[in-house]
Amino acid sequence: MVTESTLSHAVSVKCSACEKEYALNELLTFSPCCTKPLLVNYDLTDLSKEALLPKTSLWRYEALLPVMNPENIVSLGEGMTPILSLQRLSGEYGFEQLYLKDESANPTGSFKARGMSVAISKAKELGIQRCIVPTAGNAGGAMSAYCAKAGMEATVVMPAFTPRLFKEECRNFGANVVEVNGLIDACGQKVRELREKDPDLFDVSTMKEPYRLEGKKTMGFEIAEQFEGTLPDVIIYPTGGGTGLIGIWKAFEEMRTLGWIAGKLPRMVAIQAANCAPIWSDVTKEEFLPKPSLANGLAVPYPFAKGLILSVLEESKGGVYSVTEEELIAGTHELMTKEGIFAAPEGGAIWAGLKKMLRAGVVKRSEKILLINTGSAYKYMENLAR
Ligand SMILES: Cc1ncc(COP(=O)(O)O)c(C=O)c1O
Repeated sequence: MVTESTLSHAVSVKCSACEKEYALNELLTFSPCCTKPLLVNYDLTDLSKEALLPKTSLWRYEALLPVMNPENIVSLGEGMTPILSLQRLSGEYGFEQLYLKDESANPTGSFKARGMSVAISKAKELGIQRCIVPTAGNAGGAMSAYCAKAGMEATVVMPAFTPRLFKEECRNFGANVVEVNGLIDACGQKVRELREKDPDLFDVSTMKEPYRLEGKKTMGFEIAEQFEGTLPDVIIYPTGGGTGLIGIWKAFEEMRTLGWIAGKLPRMVAIQAANCAPIWSDVTKEEFLPKPSLANGLAVPYPFAKGLILSVLEESKGGVYSVTEEELIAGTHELMTKEGIFAAPEGGAIWAGLKKMLRAGVVKRSEKILLINTGSAYKYMENLAR
């Protein structure tokens, strides 16, 4: 496991002035002897370079990604995010194996970087020069950054009520920002209108090109690697357009075919915002009226890949649950105050969702559970202050 390394060669901490050594398990700030910084000291006698895994970015899985010429790779160091053990929440709620993969560590602060790195790389390979995307915020920021890096023009179309920082981020990367009154489906309509006038704009909408999914898929490879092949029993994912959920499942299937993993695959669980819960509505047959959510990325009323999302839930014997605005904001604050994770409200939604699943008896405290926190809270400050 990443967070509890048993491979460390660290042996002590050392005063940077007089080299006096202190035990590693002692809680120290600066050196008590000389009031100077302490430096960690390693046993450097026997450690081969090969023992260090070259885990630099998701492009480690290049062989299973669709870019043919490595010169076209547009990377900002995305992927290889940590899996953290949620020890305080486990203690409080009695979970035995509760983990969170923290995608907020990605460039532009969300898992959208994975999809956009692969999509913009492939677009570059295909000779595209101008890209457009409808977005709840994070995908727009990510696309703007990767287009800037690739020297491409970016247009992002987002709901007018999206928090200001999402728009500022895109503008700072040099993108054109178009605001639309309505949810992401209205933004999608606007993209279609703009492309009718200007068909050279490459549409990078969720699941309307095949490459973003490939980037998201790498979360599945990493989960298998980080857990050393022993996959979780349950993976809980905040679902809007569904690329993450579908992508992780695709990775598991590919790895199973390759013979890299065997046995039972995790139950995939989608968590939706009750304000906009089309998958939950499809399964429960309960009506919903699409409304915005403080977890902006979950307000996707008509996901293009609904059929694929439902198949993953069915094949994996998972399920779908919805959480209210109050529940997802309370969940976000709990992750922040009890685990130090500055989670996006989408991340808060999955913790709230897990508590709901526990109450419903559909998950056991003893199971190995992985939450995917898809983004950072920084750009959502005005939502959290509401
Ligand atoms: C932080 C965050 N989480 C989750 C989602 C939903 O993503 P997906 O399309 O994978 O369902 C989004 C989409 O905007 C998002 O920004």
